[in-house]
Amino acid sequence: MPLVDHHNRHIDYLRVSVTDRCNLSCVYCKPRGKVRLLDHQGILRYEEILRLVGRAASLGISHVRVTGGEPLVRRGILPFIGRLCGIPGISDVSLTTNGVLLSGMAEGLRAAGITRLNISLDSLRPERFAEITGSDAWAAVWRGIEKAETCGFHPIKINMVPVKGVNDDEIADFARLTVERDLHVRFIEFMPIGAHDRWHSDACVPADEVRAVIEREFGPLEAAASHGVGPSRNHRVPGGKGVIGFISPITKHFCSTCRRLRLTADGKIRPCLLSDTEIDVKSPLRAGCEDGELERLLKFALEIKPERHFIAESGDQCFTRTMSKIGG
Ligand code: GTP
Ligand code: 5AD
Repeated sequence: MPLVDHHNRHIDYLRVSVTDRCNLSCVYCKPRGKVRLLDHQGILRYEEILRLVGRAASLGISHVRVTGGEPLVRRGILPFIGRLCGIPGISDVSLTTNGVLLSGMAEGLRAAGITRLNISLDSLRPERFAEITGSDAWAAVWRGIEKAETCGFHPIKINMVPVKGVNDDEIADFARLTVERDLHVRFIEFMPIGAHDRWHSDACVPADEVRAVIEREFGPLEAAASHGVGPSRNHRVPGGKGVIGFISPITKHFCSTCRRLRLTADGKIRPCLLSDTEIDVKSPLRAGCEDGELERLLKFALEIKPERHFIAESGDQCFTRTMSKIGG
Protein backbone atom coordinates (compact mmCIF):
# COMPACT_ATOMS: atom_id res chain seq x y z
CA MET A 1 0.00 0.00 0.00
CA PRO A 2 1.63 3.28 -1.02
CA LEU A 3 1.64 6.25 1.31
CA VAL A 4 -0.61 9.05 0.11
CA ASP A 5 -0.17 12.63 1.25
CA HIS A 6 -2.74 15.39 1.70
CA HIS A 7 -2.46 16.38 -1.94
CA ASN A 8 -3.08 12.84 -3.18
CA ARG A 9 0.53 12.19 -4.13
CA HIS A 10 1.90 8.67 -3.71
CA ILE A 11 5.02 8.84 -1.61
CA ASP A 12 7.31 5.86 -2.05
CA TYR A 13 10.77 7.40 -2.15
CA LEU A 14 13.05 8.41 0.72
CA ARG A 15 16.33 10.26 0.17
CA VAL A 16 18.74 9.59 2.98
CA SER A 17 21.67 11.90 3.60
CA VAL A 18 24.30 9.93 5.51
CA THR A 19 26.73 12.78 6.10
CA ASP A 20 27.00 16.54 5.71
CA ARG A 21 30.71 16.14 4.90
CA CYS A 22 32.00 16.39 1.38
CA ASN A 23 35.46 16.09 -0.13
CA LEU A 24 34.59 18.90 -2.54
CA SER A 25 33.51 22.48 -1.81
CA CYS A 26 31.51 23.50 -4.84
CA VAL A 27 30.95 27.21 -4.87
CA TYR A 28 27.18 26.90 -5.26
CA CYS A 29 26.65 24.05 -2.84
CA LYS A 30 28.93 24.33 0.18
CA PRO A 31 30.39 27.80 0.48
CA ARG A 32 34.07 27.44 1.37
CA GLY A 33 35.13 27.89 4.95
CA LYS A 34 31.66 28.91 6.07
CA VAL A 35 29.94 25.63 6.83
CA ARG A 36 29.82 24.26 10.40
CA LEU A 37 30.02 20.48 10.25
CA LEU A 38 28.07 18.14 12.47
CA ASP A 39 29.98 16.37 15.20
CA HIS A 40 29.80 12.66 15.89
CA GLN A 41 26.78 12.98 18.18
CA GLY A 42 24.98 15.23 15.76
CA ILE A 43 24.82 12.69 13.00
CA LEU A 44 22.43 9.74 12.83
CA ARG A 45 24.12 6.40 13.42
CA TYR A 46 23.70 3.76 10.74
CA GLU A 47 21.60 1.67 13.14
CA GLU A 48 19.26 4.61 13.61
CA ILE A 49 18.92 5.20 9.87
CA LEU A 50 18.26 1.51 9.25
CA ARG A 51 15.58 1.45 11.92
CA LEU A 52 13.85 4.48 10.46
CA VAL A 53 14.03 3.12 6.91
CA GLY A 54 12.59 -0.16 8.18
CA ARG A 55 9.58 1.69 9.59
CA ALA A 56 9.25 3.74 6.40
CA ALA A 57 9.33 0.55 4.35
CA SER A 58 6.60 -0.97 6.50
CA LEU A 59 4.44 2.06 5.61
CA GLY A 60 5.06 1.87 1.86
CA ILE A 61 8.44 3.42 1.04
CA SER A 62 10.17 1.19 -1.53
CA HIS A 63 12.89 3.44 -3.04
CA VAL A 64 15.84 4.86 -1.15
CA ARG A 65 18.51 7.15 -2.52
CA VAL A 66 21.67 7.54 -0.44
CA THR A 67 23.12 11.05 -0.61
CA GLY A 68 25.35 13.38 1.39
CA GLY A 69 27.33 15.64 1.51
CA GLU A 70 29.35 12.98 -0.18
CA PRO A 71 28.12 9.57 0.97
CA LEU A 72 31.28 7.70 0.02
CA VAL A 73 33.36 9.60 2.60
CA ARG A 74 31.44 8.11 5.52
CA ARG A 75 33.24 5.16 7.06
CA GLY A 76 31.38 1.86 6.78
CA ILE A 77 29.19 3.03 3.92
CA LEU A 78 29.41 -0.21 1.91
CA PRO A 79 28.19 -2.56 4.65
CA PHE A 80 25.54 0.01 5.53
CA ILE A 81 24.28 0.03 1.94
CA GLY A 82 24.30 -3.76 1.93
CA ARG A 83 22.02 -3.78 4.97
CA LEU A 84 19.80 -1.07 3.48
CA CYS A 85 19.32 -3.20 0.36
CA GLY A 86 18.25 -6.09 2.58
CA ILE A 87 15.40 -4.27 4.33
CA PRO A 88 12.12 -6.02 3.45
CA GLY A 89 10.05 -3.82 1.15
CA ILE A 90 12.98 -1.76 -0.15
CA SER A 91 13.24 -2.73 -3.81
CA ASP A 92 15.51 0.01 -5.13
CA VAL A 93 18.56 1.62 -3.53
CA SER A 94 20.51 4.19 -5.52
CA LEU A 95 23.34 6.58 -4.77
CA THR A 96 24.25 10.16 -5.64
CA THR A 97 27.99 10.82 -5.49
CA ASN A 98 30.52 13.37 -6.69
CA GLY A 99 32.55 10.46 -8.08
CA VAL A 100 35.87 11.35 -6.45
CA LEU A 101 36.15 8.02 -4.60
CA LEU A 102 34.05 6.05 -7.03
CA SER A 103 36.69 4.18 -9.03
CA GLY A 104 37.92 2.44 -5.88
CA MET A 105 34.44 1.73 -4.54
CA ALA A 106 32.36 0.95 -7.63
CA GLU A 107 32.79 -2.81 -7.36
CA GLY A 108 31.96 -2.72 -3.66
CA LEU A 109 28.83 -0.70 -4.38
CA ARG A 110 27.69 -3.25 -6.96
CA ALA A 111 28.34 -6.06 -4.53
CA ALA A 112 26.38 -4.20 -1.85
CA GLY A 113 23.36 -4.05 -4.16
CA ILE A 114 23.45 -0.66 -5.90
CA THR A 115 22.63 -0.71 -9.62
CA ARG A 116 21.84 2.96 -10.33
CA LEU A 117 24.27 5.80 -9.83
CA ASN A 118 24.01 9.57 -10.14
CA ILE A 119 27.28 11.43 -10.44
CA SER A 120 27.57 15.20 -10.07
CA LEU A 121 29.93 16.83 -12.55
CA ASP A 122 29.80 20.49 -13.49
CA SER A 123 32.71 20.81 -15.87
CA LEU A 124 34.57 18.67 -18.38
CA ARG A 125 37.61 20.92 -18.04
CA PRO A 126 39.96 19.98 -15.21
CA GLU A 127 41.04 23.55 -14.44
CA ARG A 128 37.50 24.82 -14.31
CA PHE A 129 36.44 21.82 -12.23
CA ALA A 130 39.14 22.89 -9.77
CA GLU A 131 37.80 26.44 -9.65
CA ILE A 132 34.24 25.24 -9.02
CA THR A 133 35.02 22.47 -6.53
CA GLY A 134 38.28 23.63 -4.91
CA SER A 135 39.83 20.27 -5.84
CA ASP A 136 41.98 18.88 -8.62
CA ALA A 137 40.07 15.60 -8.62
CA TRP A 138 38.61 15.88 -12.14
CA ALA A 139 40.61 12.93 -13.47
CA ALA A 140 39.58 10.82 -10.47
CA VAL A 141 35.90 11.58 -11.15
CA TRP A 142 36.32 10.70 -14.81
CA ARG A 143 38.00 7.41 -13.84
CA GLY A 144 35.04 6.81 -11.54
CA ILE A 145 32.56 7.31 -14.38
CA GLU A 146 34.51 4.92 -16.62
CA LYS A 147 34.75 2.36 -13.85
CA ALA A 148 31.01 2.63 -13.23
CA GLU A 149 30.42 1.91 -16.91
CA THR A 150 32.61 -1.19 -16.86
CA CYS A 151 30.97 -2.40 -13.64
CA GLY A 152 27.60 -2.34 -15.43
CA PHE A 153 25.71 0.30 -13.42
CA HIS A 154 22.63 1.36 -15.34
CA PRO A 155 21.56 4.00 -15.74
CA ILE A 156 24.55 6.22 -14.94
CA LYS A 157 23.25 9.76 -14.61
CA ILE A 158 25.54 12.76 -14.76
CA ASN A 159 24.10 15.80 -12.95
CA MET A 160 25.26 19.13 -14.35
CA VAL A 161 24.13 22.46 -12.90
CA PRO A 162 24.72 25.17 -15.52
CA VAL A 163 25.42 28.54 -13.89
CA LYS A 164 25.53 31.62 -16.07
CA GLY A 165 29.04 32.85 -16.68
CA VAL A 166 30.54 29.87 -14.83
CA ASN A 167 30.04 26.75 -16.96
CA ASP A 168 27.13 27.44 -19.30
CA ASP A 169 29.52 27.41 -22.26
CA GLU A 170 29.90 23.63 -21.70
CA ILE A 171 26.27 22.67 -22.27
CA ALA A 172 26.89 21.32 -25.79
CA ASP A 173 30.01 19.43 -24.64
CA PHE A 174 27.97 17.67 -21.95
CA ALA A 175 25.21 16.86 -24.43
CA ARG A 176 27.84 15.42 -26.79
CA LEU A 177 28.74 12.79 -24.16
CA THR A 178 25.39 11.13 -24.84
CA VAL A 179 26.02 10.68 -28.56
CA GLU A 180 28.58 7.90 -28.19
CA ARG A 181 27.94 6.70 -24.65
CA ASP A 182 24.91 5.35 -22.85
CA LEU A 183 25.02 8.06 -20.20
CA HIS A 184 22.13 10.17 -18.92
CA VAL A 185 23.26 13.76 -18.78
CA ARG A 186 20.79 15.86 -16.78
CA PHE A 187 20.84 19.61 -16.72
CA ILE A 188 19.52 20.87 -13.41
CA GLU A 189 18.33 24.43 -12.89
CA PHE A 190 20.37 26.21 -10.26
CA MET A 191 18.22 26.58 -7.15
CA PRO A 192 18.44 29.13 -4.34
CA ILE A 193 19.81 26.73 -1.76
CA GLY A 194 22.74 27.48 0.46
CA ALA A 195 24.80 29.58 -1.91
CA HIS A 196 23.91 33.01 -0.52
CA ASP A 197 26.94 34.70 -1.96
CA ARG A 198 26.44 33.14 -5.39
CA TRP A 199 22.73 32.95 -5.84
CA HIS A 200 20.83 35.47 -7.85
CA SER A 201 17.96 34.52 -10.10
CA ASP A 202 19.87 35.54 -13.24
CA ALA A 203 22.51 32.86 -12.55
CA CYS A 204 20.02 30.09 -13.29
CA VAL A 205 19.97 28.91 -16.90
CA PRO A 206 16.35 27.92 -17.66
CA ALA A 207 15.87 24.42 -19.07
CA ASP A 208 14.36 25.83 -22.30
CA GLU A 209 17.54 27.84 -22.87
CA VAL A 210 19.69 24.77 -22.28
CA ARG A 211 17.59 22.83 -24.75
CA ALA A 212 17.88 25.59 -27.35
CA VAL A 213 21.68 25.56 -27.05
CA ILE A 214 21.72 21.77 -27.55
CA GLU A 215 19.32 21.88 -30.48
CA ARG A 216 21.38 24.56 -32.22
CA GLU A 217 24.28 22.12 -32.14
CA PHE A 218 22.58 18.76 -32.66
CA GLY A 219 19.18 19.51 -34.22
CA PRO A 220 15.76 18.78 -32.66
CA LEU A 221 15.83 16.38 -29.71
CA GLU A 222 13.60 13.32 -29.61
CA ALA A 223 11.51 12.40 -26.58
CA ALA A 224 12.97 9.49 -24.58
CA ALA A 225 11.48 7.32 -21.86
CA SER A 226 11.86 8.41 -18.26
CA HIS A 227 13.68 5.97 -16.00
CA GLY A 228 12.93 5.66 -12.33
CA VAL A 229 10.75 8.01 -10.41
CA GLY A 230 12.61 11.28 -10.79
CA PRO A 231 11.74 14.75 -11.99
CA SER A 232 13.78 14.62 -15.19
CA ARG A 233 12.15 15.17 -18.60
CA ASN A 234 14.15 12.98 -20.94
CA HIS A 235 15.19 13.40 -24.55
CA ARG A 236 17.93 12.23 -26.84
CA VAL A 237 19.96 13.43 -29.76
CA PRO A 238 18.60 11.48 -32.76
CA GLY A 239 20.69 8.31 -33.00
CA GLY A 240 22.45 9.08 -29.71
CA LYS A 241 23.16 6.21 -27.31
CA GLY A 242 22.44 8.13 -24.14
CA VAL A 243 19.78 10.42 -22.72
CA ILE A 244 19.58 14.15 -22.13
CA GLY A 245 17.40 15.12 -19.17
CA PHE A 246 16.06 18.46 -18.00
CA ILE A 247 15.28 19.04 -14.35
CA SER A 248 13.51 22.36 -14.04
CA PRO A 249 12.50 23.12 -10.45
CA ILE A 250 12.44 26.84 -11.23
CA THR A 251 10.77 27.26 -14.61
CA LYS A 252 8.50 24.18 -14.59
CA HIS A 253 8.17 22.79 -11.10
CA PHE A 254 7.23 19.15 -10.72
CA CYS A 255 5.68 19.32 -7.25
CA SER A 256 2.39 17.70 -8.27
CA THR A 257 4.25 14.48 -9.06
CA CYS A 258 6.70 14.63 -6.15
CA ARG A 259 7.01 11.25 -4.44
CA ARG A 260 9.74 12.11 -1.97
CA LEU A 261 10.59 12.54 1.64
CA ARG A 262 14.09 13.32 2.84
CA LEU A 263 16.03 12.32 5.92
CA THR A 264 18.84 14.73 6.76
CA ALA A 265 22.15 13.59 8.24
CA ASP A 266 21.24 15.24 11.55
CA GLY A 267 18.05 13.23 11.83
CA LYS A 268 15.29 15.47 10.51
CA ILE A 269 12.56 14.37 8.13
CA ARG A 270 12.31 17.09 5.51
CA PRO A 271 9.07 16.76 3.56
CA CYS A 272 10.16 19.14 0.79
CA LEU A 273 13.61 20.05 -0.50
CA LEU A 274 12.49 23.64 -0.80
CA SER A 275 10.83 24.18 2.55
CA ASP A 276 12.76 24.53 5.79
CA THR A 277 10.01 22.77 7.79
CA GLU A 278 11.52 19.63 9.33
CA ILE A 279 10.56 16.98 11.88
CA ASP A 280 13.10 15.81 14.42
CA VAL A 281 13.46 12.04 14.58
CA LYS A 282 16.88 11.89 16.19
CA SER A 283 15.62 12.89 19.65
CA PRO A 284 12.83 10.29 19.78
CA LEU A 285 15.19 7.63 18.38
CA ARG A 286 17.71 8.39 21.13
CA ALA A 287 15.03 8.55 23.79
CA GLY A 288 14.17 4.94 22.98
CA CYS A 289 10.82 5.57 21.31
CA GLU A 290 8.56 2.78 20.08
CA ASP A 291 8.33 1.94 16.37
CA GLY A 292 4.79 3.35 16.40
CA GLU A 293 6.14 6.79 17.27
CA LEU A 294 8.49 6.74 14.26
CA GLU A 295 5.60 5.71 12.05
CA ARG A 296 3.48 8.54 13.45
CA LEU A 297 6.24 11.04 12.66
CA LEU A 298 6.61 9.72 9.12
CA LYS A 299 2.86 10.04 8.59
CA PHE A 300 2.93 13.53 10.06
CA ALA A 301 5.59 14.45 7.48
CA LEU A 302 3.05 13.56 4.79
CA GLU A 303 0.42 15.74 6.41
CA ILE A 304 2.65 18.78 6.31
CA LYS A 305 4.31 18.14 2.94
CA PRO A 306 3.63 21.38 1.06
CA GLU A 307 1.58 21.32 -2.10
CA ARG A 308 4.34 23.11 -3.98
CA HIS A 309 7.32 25.39 -3.55
CA PHE A 310 7.49 29.03 -4.49
CA ILE A 311 11.12 29.55 -5.38
CA ALA A 312 10.29 30.97 -8.79
CA GLU A 313 8.31 33.70 -7.02
CA SER A 314 10.76 34.37 -4.20
CA GLY A 315 13.20 36.47 -6.19
CA ASP A 316 16.68 36.55 -4.76
CA GLN A 317 15.86 34.89 -1.43
CA CYS A 318 17.97 31.85 -0.64
CA PHE A 319 17.48 28.87 1.70
CA THR A 320 19.78 28.71 4.69
CA ARG A 321 20.51 24.99 4.74
CA THR A 322 23.12 24.19 2.11
CA MET A 323 22.51 21.35 -0.34
CA SER A 324 25.39 19.53 1.34
CA LYS A 325 23.29 19.50 4.53
CA ILE A 326 20.05 18.41 2.85
CA GLY A 327 21.22 15.80 0.41
CA GLY A 328 20.33 17.14 -3.03
P1 GTP B 1 16.19 9.08 -9.36
O1 GTP B 1 14.84 9.28 -9.94
O2 GTP B 1 16.17 8.27 -8.12
O3 GTP B 1 17.16 8.55 -10.36
O4 GTP B 1 16.77 10.47 -8.90
P2 GTP B 1 16.66 11.89 -9.55
O5 GTP B 1 16.34 11.85 -10.99
O6 GTP B 1 15.83 12.75 -8.66
O7 GTP B 1 18.12 12.38 -9.46
P3 GTP B 1 18.89 13.07 -8.32
O8 GTP B 1 18.58 12.46 -7.05
O9 GTP B 1 20.31 13.10 -8.75
O10 GTP B 1 18.31 14.52 -8.35
C1 GTP B 1 18.74 15.38 -9.30
C2 GTP B 1 18.48 16.78 -8.85
O11 GTP B 1 17.12 17.12 -9.04
C3 GTP B 1 18.74 17.03 -7.40
O12 GTP B 1 20.07 17.21 -7.16
C4 GTP B 1 17.98 18.29 -7.19
O13 GTP B 1 18.72 19.36 -7.70
C5 GTP B 1 16.76 18.06 -8.08
N1 GTP B 1 15.72 17.46 -7.26
C6 GTP B 1 15.65 16.19 -6.83
N2 GTP B 1 14.58 16.02 -6.05
C7 GTP B 1 13.95 17.19 -5.99
C8 GTP B 1 12.79 17.63 -5.33
O14 GTP B 1 12.12 16.90 -4.61
N3 GTP B 1 12.44 18.92 -5.51
C9 GTP B 1 13.17 19.76 -6.28
N4 GTP B 1 12.75 21.02 -6.43
N5 GTP B 1 14.30 19.38 -6.90
C10 GTP B 1 14.68 18.12 -6.77
N1 5AD C 1 20.84 23.99 -7.35
C1 5AD C 1 20.68 22.89 -8.12
N2 5AD C 1 21.35 21.75 -7.92
C2 5AD C 1 22.20 21.72 -6.92
N3 5AD C 1 23.01 20.74 -6.48
C3 5AD C 1 23.68 21.19 -5.41
N4 5AD C 1 23.35 22.47 -5.14
C4 5AD C 1 22.43 22.82 -6.07
C5 5AD C 1 21.69 24.01 -6.32
N5 5AD C 1 21.83 25.10 -5.55
C6 5AD C 1 23.07 19.42 -7.10
C7 5AD C 1 24.46 18.90 -7.27
C8 5AD C 1 24.28 17.41 -7.17
C9 5AD C 1 22.97 17.22 -6.51
C10 5AD C 1 23.05 16.37 -5.30
O1 5AD C 1 22.48 18.50 -6.20
O2 5AD C 1 24.99 19.23 -8.51
O3 5AD C 1 24.23 16.80 -8.44
